[in-house]
Amino acid sequence: MIFKMLQVAVAALAASGVASAAFSIDTTEDIKETAATIAWDLLQYYKGNQSGQTPGILPGPPPAGDYYWWEAGAMWGTLIDYWKLTGDDSYNGLITDAMLWQVGPFKNYMPPNVTASLGNDDQGFWGMTAMLAAENGFPDPPADQPQWLALAQAVFNTQAAPDRHDDSCNGGLRWQIPWANNGYNYKNSIANGCFFNLGARLARYTNNETYANWAVDTWDWMVKVGFMDKDYNIYDGGHVEHDCKDINKAQFSYNNGVFLQGAAYMYNYTNGSAIWKQRTQSLLDATLKTFFPKDIAYEVACEEHMSCTTDMLSFKGYMHRWLAVVTQIADFTAPQILRVLKTSTEAAVATCTGEANGRTCGFKWNTKAYDGSHGAGQQMNVLGAVSSLLIGQVKAPVTNTTGGTSKGDPNAGSQYDTFNDKKLPPTTGDKAGASILTLLVLGVALGTFGWMSAA
Ligand SMILES: *[C@@H]1O[C@H](CO)[C@@H](O)[C@H](O)[C@H]1NC(C)=O
Ligand SMILES: *[C@@H]1O[C@H](CO)[C@@H](O)[C@H](O)[C@H]1NC(C)=O
Ligand SMILES: *[C@@H]1O[C@H](CO)[C@@H](O)[C@H](O)[C@H]1NC(C)=O
Ligand SMILES: *[C@@H]1O[C@H](CO)[C@@H](O)[C@H](O)[C@H]1NC(C)=O
Ligand SMILES: *[C@@H]1O[C@H](CO)[C@@H](O)[C@H](O)[C@H]1NC(C)=O
Ligand SMILES: *[C@@H]1O[C@H](CO)[C@@H](O)[C@H](O)[C@H]1NC(C)=O
Repeated sequence: MIFKMLQVAVAALAASGVASAAFSIDTTEDIKETAATIAWDLLQYYKGNQSGQTPGILPGPPPAGDYYWWEAGAMWGTLIDYWKLTGDDSYNGLITDAMLWQVGPFKNYMPPNVTASLGNDDQGFWGMTAMLAAENGFPDPPADQPQWLALAQAVFNTQAAPDRHDDSCNGGLRWQIPWANNGYNYKNSIANGCFFNLGARLARYTNNETYANWAVDTWDWMVKVGFMDKDYNIYDGGHVEHDCKDINKAQFSYNNGVFLQGAAYMYNYTNGSAIWKQRTQSLLDATLKTFFPKDIAYEVACEEHMSCTTDMLSFKGYMHRWLAVVTQIADFTAPQILRVLKTSTEAAVATCTGEANGRTCGFKWNTKAYDGSHGAGQQMNVLGAVSSLLIGQVKAPVTNTTGGTSKGDPNAGSQYDTFNDKKLPPTTGDKAGASILTLLVLGVALGTFGWMSAA
């Protein structure tokens, strides 16, 4: 009986079009309305503004909750783009409070609470969000608070410092920052990709060549060590005790996205150089081929069997947002990228029919149906994709000479308490922590992901 009534209700909903799709992205107004609802649903995962909770973070890090520290940094970036693209400033106060709470005692995004899982990539994601705030003209914090550009420079400076670079594998950043952490012996693409991306963007924003030189060196190292091959495939990383030759060949979309966007910034910074044009185009072709089969975002290393970790469930959104910016700063890419982003986003919103509210988004976009998985990553992915449809209506990222107002400090972050002074024991009780992809690395050790590293 109840079943029968439900059937009637479903039929009625279907007739009104509601059951098949909760959202429309047909017009600019539709896109804004859809993005606003998805942003609201995303923020239901955020508890940091409730009493007794820590501002700035999503519930975690595991086992205290699902989310590592970096993912909230990425979420604030998604919302800073949401503000720029849609004009909805409802969350700007929340975003600023969050970004400033997490800066840490040396104002370089190394808060002691997360030492046990602090990777260069984790710090890098917060740094890239600070950079984005400067580039998007996000409201500057009060003068007595750290400023967006200076925060991005602080992250960059700590990562460019000699103690983060050693001769193993002929250079490059390690994954983890503290020497006692699991994964300190791993050098990987995402850590170096965040550093490359930030360097390229700081070069364009400040027109200071030092940043660009680091970006060039990082790209060259990626190629030399074999993490980026001649066909522009980007692999996860390798261990220092094997001279980084034990390359884990798993490919993740955020690696391609972070390097592709950085390459486009270098193209723009160099006033359209042939070499960065070729690199941008080649990496774009490889990225679309690997991660957008049938023009729909697909997380190839884990999606088929849904073996994606919480981290991996958020990569599609960064890819969409970063690709959208590439069309503004390397405009020869626009026709190719915009067509794919539209098709992929249509598939993405088709998954948003889940859970009791009938509009929760899933992960398997190419099924165009809700797949039962839900979380901050899934919401953030679709929010990034939907709001990026408005990229043609907003101005390109600004620089210090084209409207940027954020105050910098070229020496920011240089006086920090190094974790790698071996005289300092790691924080008591720290169990060497997990961070981005730790599960994957452990998985490789246990052979679980052995199929991925087959050369
Ligand atoms: C936290 O932020 C959300 C989103 O803006 C808002 O709906 C909620 O009321 C806030 N909660 C508190 C306790 O301020
Ligand atoms: C560190 O953790 C403590 C205890 O949970 C919390 O009160 C504090 O706000 C946290 N600091 C940061 C920067 O997150
Ligand atoms: C940015 O521009 C301001 C003036 O518009 C100037 O004072 C400042 O030195 C510039 N900063 C950089 C890093 O070039
Ligand atoms: C690009 O052109 C601008 C304006 O002519 C110039 O100031 C800048 O130095 C150039 N950048 C590079 C990397 O050559
Ligand atoms: C660099 O980006 C700006 C947008 O900020 C754009 O106007 C300019 O044409 C770009 N330069 C090149 C060489 O594409
Ligand atoms: C350029 O950046 C480097 C590295 O942070 C810094 O040491 C130098 O002072 C900067 N130059 C200027 C003119 O700001």
